[in-house]
Amino acid sequence: MNVKRLAVFISGRGSNFRAIHDEVKKGTIKGEIVVVISDNPDAPGLEYARAAGIQSAVFQKKGGESRDTYFDRIIELLDKGAVDGIVLAGFMKVLSRNIIHNYPNRILNIHPALLPSFPGIEAQRQAFEYGVKYSGCTVHFVDEGVDTGPVILQEVIPVLDDDDAHTLADRILKKEHIIYPKAVRFFCEDRLEVRGRKVFVRPADL
Ligand code: GRF
Repeated sequence: MNVKRLAVFISGRGSNFRAIHDEVKKGTIKGEIVVVISDNPDAPGLEYARAAGIQSAVFQKKGGESRDTYFDRIIELLDKGAVDGIVLAGFMKVLSRNIIHNYPNRILNIHPALLPSFPGIEAQRQAFEYGVKYSGCTVHFVDEGVDTGPVILQEVIPVLDDDDAHTLADRILKKEHIIYPKAVRFFCEDRLEVRGRKVFVRPADL
């Protein structure tokens, strides 16, 4: 099995990126993060990438530039780097059709709620304000909708009586750091099989 070449997309602090990189370093993920891409030049996750010696690139949308053209510029870099899979880790832009079609079932995302509940931004706050008793996080493949692709892994977190949106978000984030590296590991081991909307995790090779 070839070591998968991964691109991680971030916009902010990059804690999921770091959690995944930790597992790459330990060798539990049979992948290599070949590039970190950010739409935000000030993303703290970029600092981490530089310190870790990982190539990074900032892509800011130019005035008047279409989403397609913006992502075509990114695709060019991904092609050059022979990227096998894309890991969205807090990347705040909706991907273009082109990039999704170029990487079918090869783009993963983490969402801080139990999809299909509370898609979009501030999912932890949405769930908290709705008054649910359980929330959680979801790793899914990316399709053309917003947070609608086939679910790979989910983890449930109870909402406690003394929670606020922040304490809930903190507990969800801790679980994100566990399930996202796990899903990336399965992806890198070619163990994720998509059948319609369902994703099956094949057993590991002995
Ligand atoms: C996480 O809550 C993730 O679920 C969401 O964006 C946030 C990114 O956080 N998609 P970080 O940059 O990985 O720390």
